[in-house]
Amino acid sequence: MKVKIEGKPRDLRSVWLEDDIVKFIDQRSLPGKLEFYEARDISEVAYSIKNMVVRGAPAIGAAAAYGMLLAHLQNGDMEGAADALRRTRPTAHDLFFAVNHMLSGLKKGTANARKLAEDFVDAIVDECRNIGVQGEKLISDNSRILTHCNAGALATVDYGTALAPIRAANDSGKKPFVFVDETRPLLQGSRLTSWELSQEGIEHRIIADNAAGHFMAKGEIDLVIVGADRIALNGDAANKIGTYEKAVLAKENGIPFYVAAPKTTFDPKTETGKEIDIEERDEAEVLEYFSKGIAPDGARARNPAFDVTPNRYITGIITDKGILKPSEVKERMHV
Ligand code: MRU
Repeated sequence: MKVKIEGKPRDLRSVWLEDDIVKFIDQRSLPGKLEFYEARDISEVAYSIKNMVVRGAPAIGAAAAYGMLLAHLQNGDMEGAADALRRTRPTAHDLFFAVNHMLSGLKKGTANARKLAEDFVDAIVDECRNIGVQGEKLISDNSRILTHCNAGALATVDYGTALAPIRAANDSGKKPFVFVDETRPLLQGSRLTSWELSQEGIEHRIIADNAAGHFMAKGEIDLVIVGADRIALNGDAANKIGTYEKAVLAKENGIPFYVAAPKTTFDPKTETGKEIDIEERDEAEVLEYFSKGIAPDGARARNPAFDVTPNRYITGIITDKGILKPSEVKERMHV
């Protein structure tokens, strides 16, 4: 259900719980309108995730944790709730982490289920702030950074993963400059990342998805920072479709390529990126532009939502504790 709530966007989280209702900034309406969406039961939470009211791996995880809470408070069918959530979007590991976290916490007979969910979500935000602290070390004065998709506050409840180091660098006066890939087909870069950077007063330019190679070759990009939806034990990382080609281009041009992620994104059961289930979405997202057809009648399309960047293209993974080499993921995940 769409609703109006007063408040400045930067004071808000992208997902939160209020009066046992899950509330979202409706990311489908941005940047044109700041609208909110309310989910009152598990089916409405599942709808919000599947239809991208909420998107971005850690924010999806937060929504799933709250969805499990609503199921616990309302009908107690936790396995049914877990199933409904797992069927929404397959790639973001954070969703599966959140569902399992709530299932095991509630099985242990946690006295305060609301606190279990709230602590889980607060931990994501804390981790993102610390990703900012760690990642800022990579950014020099006036660094020019390329990012893909939206891995900011909207995607993570607050602060961001890829955008966290950029925000931290901006706060310390380093004046970072950001190249924002528009990120077809759903334009998370031009609609959402640009919206967030504008709110923070961070200098940036939106570029067409196929322009990054040009700017890299001209020496206009110093580093790349992206988020992730699932990171395998060997350090391969799934992220928004188009990330892989940016990583290859970065390597070709000698530009460092970093992935930023909280622990909920790391998948201890997946050895390599080849095993990651890549969501394929409706072809209409490619054939239409905001419901207006952009292809001949009868044309067909393919629409994978993510791709996998092999570890050899990843310079480092920015975590809240420091920067890991892809080869260090396995040993750190088992600590
Ligand atoms: O399909 P989306 O918009 O949910 O995809 C989001 C991304 O690919 C993000 O880069 C990723 O979830 C990391 S968000 C911190």
